[in-house]
Order: sequence, then structure tokens, then C-alpha cells
Amino acid sequence: MSATGLEPSEASLRFSLLPARLDDLPAILRLEEEGFGPEERWSERSWSGELLGQGRTTLLARGAQPAGVIALSTVGEVADLHRVVVAPAYRRQGLALRMVRAGLLAVQHLGARLVMLEVEYTNLGAIALYQRLGFEQVRVRRDYYGTGRDALILRLYDLETWPGRFARAVEETEADLQAERADVRGAEALSGGPDLTEERS
Ligand SMILES: CC(C)(COP(=O)(O)OP(=O)(O)OC[C@H]1O[C@@H](n2cnc3c(N)ncnc32)[C@H](O)[C@@H]1OP(=O)(O)O)[C@@H](O)C(=O)NCCC(=O)NCCS
Repeated sequence: MSATGLEPSEASLRFSLLPARLDDLPAILRLEEEGFGPEERWSERSWSGELLGQGRTTLLARGAQPAGVIALSTVGEVADLHRVVVAPAYRRQGLALRMVRAGLLAVQHLGARLVMLEVEYTNLGAIALYQRLGFEQVRVRRDYYGTGRDALILRLYDLETWPGRFARAVEETEADLQAERADVRGAEALSGGPDLTEERS
């Protein structure tokens, strides 16, 4: 695995990531239905807006069938990651990771330096994905998705230096952990090894 764990997996490379067109709408709406409950789903109109609006980046993962879609918008130096969804049959193969990376690269070309997103605080899978990519929590927006349904606002700053900056942070954390482990081993050696009293009794 790479230092950041962000390199595309072989499974995800089976898909081509291409700009979505208006005639992809039915496939996108199918992905939307599979990915979200009725209350959370975007309408055909919202998706048309993503496909036709200015400063929009919408990528579709195409394989034997459409497997995922990502939508971002860019205004000046700020991009918003609006949506990412992967069909259930293709999850946990690194496809979202690859799509978000491709989306970030695309908005960087459009001039974005900062990327923001909102995610429901109960959506632990998506939060884990964004954290893996280096997004940081900025604040909580109470009741953003309805009463009792808060949003976490996350951001990824300074796109030009990402993911190199992120890789360094991961390497430094890894080095700290290794140093800590070495300290623990050293302390154990000095005290004649770990205390196994409980296991023996
Ligand atoms: C969130 C979602 C896009 C992730 O897609 P995916 O292709 O399965 O994600 P990836 O395989 O690229 O996952 C990369 C990493 O993110 C984290 N992750 C992704 N899904 C996770 C889950 N359900 N639980 C815990 N961690 C998860 C893991 O660290 C994972 O790496 P690993 O598989 O090596 O452990 C997908 O579950 C989905 O479409 N959900 C419904 C729609 C949604 O909630 N979208 C986000 C809000 S718009």
C-alpha cells in the first residue's frame, strides 16, 4: 500500500471515469435510488442542474454498467463536493476513493484551492472515506438535514500541495507510532518483559 493508502486499487481501475452527459441521467437516477433513502434523494431536476450548470464537475464511473457518480461545483478558489455515490454491488473496492481523487484533480484544474462538503453525522462510511482522503472537520451544523439530523462540515485545504502534504502527515504519524512502540518495547525490556501475572494465575 502507498504511504497514504490513496493509490487506486486494481478493482477500481476496471472503471473509466468520464464526464457525465445529459443522456446519463437515467443511470445517475438509478444510482441515486440505490444510494439514498426517499427523503434524501436528489430529483431529476437537481441532477440536470449538476450536469448543465456552470463550474460543475460530474464524473460517472463506467464499467459493464454505471457504478458510481460524483458531483462537485467550483466558484473561484472554493469547490463544493455535493455528491458521491457508488452502487452497492461495487462498494469497498476503492471506487469512491478513486472518484473523489479524480474530482479533486478536476476542480484543481478549474482553480479551486479549498474543497468543502457537508455530510450527515450518522453517515459513518462517508465520513471514514473523507477522513481517509485528508478532509478535516470544521464545524457541526445543527438540524441541517431536518430536525435532529446534524451535518458535519468538512474541508480539504490547499489543494496544490495535496496529497503530498497529506502523505507527509501520514508518514509522520506512522513514525510517531513506531517511536512510541519502540519506547514501549524498551520499557518492557528494562522491566524484564510484560507483566504476565494475570495470564499465569
Ligand atoms: C460512501 C460511499 C460513496 C463509499 O463508496 P465505496 O466505493 O464503497 O468507498 P471505497 O471503497 O472507496 O472506500 C474507501 C475507504 O473509505 C472508508 N469507507 C468507505 N465505506 C465505508 C463504510 N461503509 N464503513 C467504514 N468505512 C468506509 C474505508 O476506509 C475504505 O477503505 P477500506 O475499504 O480499505 O477500509 C458508498 O458507501 C455510498 O455510495 N454510500 C451511499 C451514498 C452516500 O452516503 N454518499 C456520501 C454522501 S453524498
